[in-house]
Amino acid sequence: MPPTADAPHAARLRLQRFDTEDARAAFARDVARGLGSSPKQLFPKYFYDELGSELFDAICLLPEYYLTRAENEILARHADEIVAAAASSRAPDGAPLSLLELGSGSATKTRRVIEAILKRQPDLLYRPVDISASALTASADALLQAYPALRIEAYASDYDGALGHLSRGRDARADERLLALFLGSNVGNFDRDGAQQFLRALRGVLREGDALLLGADLKKDRAALEAAYDDALGVTAAFNLNLLVRLNREFGADFDVRAFRHVAAYNEEAGRVEIYIKSRREQIVRLPGLDLEITFDAGERVHTENSYKYDRDGLDALAAETGFACTRRWTDEGGRFSSNLFVAR
Ligand code: TRP
Repeated sequence: MPPTADAPHAARLRLQRFDTEDARAAFARDVARGLGSSPKQLFPKYFYDELGSELFDAICLLPEYYLTRAENEILARHADEIVAAAASSRAPDGAPLSLLELGSGSATKTRRVIEAILKRQPDLLYRPVDISASALTASADALLQAYPALRIEAYASDYDGALGHLSRGRDARADERLLALFLGSNVGNFDRDGAQQFLRALRGVLREGDALLLGADLKKDRAALEAAYDDALGVTAAFNLNLLVRLNREFGADFDVRAFRHVAAYNEEAGRVEIYIKSRREQIVRLPGLDLEITFDAGERVHTENSYKYDRDGLDALAAETGFACTRRWTDEGGRFSSNLFVAR
């Protein structure tokens, strides 16, 4: 196709990178530190290379992973009400809403919110932030195609880079009202301190009365939670182990992926599902790109993610601690998942 073929909607797209530092150098440093420490760990943001983002989309279709369906049920049913609540949380000044999303991924659920906003105003500026540039361009393309009244300013970045940039530009956006989205179980991937820090930073890009729609998975029985993070088809295992495939590709490592397995365990006391990559035997792995050699004991685990589960009081407290008030909450019919409207105070 000639390069002009996508021009009709390319004019409505701007894609920027806002990494706080050279992304590859940071990845190398994090891996060296994480595998060099005891217990070993790798950060979840590195799951999302191109294949990782696709595998996560597949997870969202699994029968065991109820989170996406539950949140989609809430948005399909209540998006109009959510948007009306967000629009009225600031004194009526006629300013249009614009939409900011952290960790937008394929932005499938976002469509419910975009459609609800476009019922109320003629056009919309959408600012998605995602660490995966491939997920961002694919989703932006599909959205621009579907919604002629949409403009997109996309940030291929981690959260820190994007929030830093957006807070510096806040005063230039004095005439816009912001609805921020942090959907799925994204907030669950922070520990309590990390969630507070992140939400305070996000509060810093909002003005009083702006709103945040925060998805949060709710505490429930162990069997349902563990199945959601260890499905029968092994898609979640593939998603987790893909981190090793990525290290093989990007740092020339020689992980024998079959010599590791996926583990998901609910730690009820801490209120979180813990995800690990577990070594099936004693082994030595070389990572020439990092000039490293790492020894694994039989049964040794690398921690790759926590997914914290919330209750209603915990969510109200989280809002109060971070400069918000939780003014509304919607749950799915099964009461498994919550969408929380946090209004900036
Ligand atoms: N944010 C998602 C969650 O906590 C990410 C996720 C889903 C995930 N399944 C996973 C992360 C399995 C690691 C392993 O629900």
